[in-house]
Amino acid sequence: MKTIGIEGTAHTFSVGIFDGEEILALRSHTLRPEKGGIHPREAADHHVEHSGELIRGALEDAGLSKDDVELVAFSQGPGLGPCLRVAATVARALSINLNVPIIGVNHCIAHLEIGRFLTGAKDPVLLYASGGNTQVIALAGGRYRVFGETMDIGVGNMLDKFARESGIPFPGGPEIEKMAKNADRYIPLPYSIRGMDVSFSGLLTAALHLREKESMENIAYSIQETAFAMLTEVTERAMAHLGKDEVLLGGGVACNRRLREMVKTMAEERGARFYAPECRYCVDNAAMIAVLGHRMYQAGIRQKIEDTAVNQRFRTDEVDVIW
Ligand code: ATP
Ligand code: FE2
Repeated sequence: MKTIGIEGTAHTFSVGIFDGEEILALRSHTLRPEKGGIHPREAADHHVEHSGELIRGALEDAGLSKDDVELVAFSQGPGLGPCLRVAATVARALSINLNVPIIGVNHCIAHLEIGRFLTGAKDPVLLYASGGNTQVIALAGGRYRVFGETMDIGVGNMLDKFARESGIPFPGGPEIEKMAKNADRYIPLPYSIRGMDVSFSGLLTAALHLREKESMENIAYSIQETAFAMLTEVTERAMAHLGKDEVLLGGGVACNRRLREMVKTMAEERGARFYAPECRYCVDNAAMIAVLGHRMYQAGIRQKIEDTAVNQRFRTDEVDVIW
């Protein structure tokens, strides 16, 4: 069954095509604001502008015509309202125009399902670390439950904000990773864990203050070591509590080699297996939306156009996992 996925929760508009076995195409375009943070309306305009060419390009890459599409899947939330509404409108238009079913999916669950699909992980604890989201998720009692999460900003947001304040353009994460490689010492920063939850705003403020006396390389390194150790600790605790022996990474920050290394080491020390998809499937992408939409449809889940309103606060644990 050929499924077209539409993603547009934040900066990225993306179109992916999945045929049930293989990802046939993935085309994405990301808004990169020159300065300042993301403006939801500007991002929505960006999505409108790029949707047509991305859909055409993805169909071309897959060697399909629009009439070959059998199912439309889209990101229903969580995310920024204006952005979500563009993605949903594009998806509805496609579904009506092509006369094929539509299915709205949870964006966070899609990050998990693409990882399971690509790596073969069966029942992992997912560390989902992106710009807007930072959650530790696992299947329990038929739903994906959030066992730990950030109490303030996402880890990627923290990296992006530090970079922006320091004159480094968006996205800041990859630049911080590069700078950290040339550090010569670690400077302690606020390490903030409460139960299974983390917070990053104290670390961000302290790191910004350090700029008066420390090199950017050393600060970048110290931010990474501190923030990623926090994430690794809560992920390990979730694995121990739940008795799960697989860990999976997802979200844009999961592109980071140092985060991968730390979580992998933790997994090896516990005798657990470590999985991480390649970077383009960690960042926001529509292949994951197509894969999850396809799974849900195959499991018998159906939606009417009336059910496709977006949900900015769509929680991971609202969905019954019957696939
Ligand atoms: P979500 O809606 O899931 O919160 P998002 O809009 O934050 O998604 P993603 O594409 O998942 O989008 O992640 C983007 C984030 O990933 C940015 O904060 C960026 O700085 C960060 N990132 C990307 N590459 C790296 C890297 N190598 N190291 C650290 N952070 C990275
Ligand atoms: Fe995401």
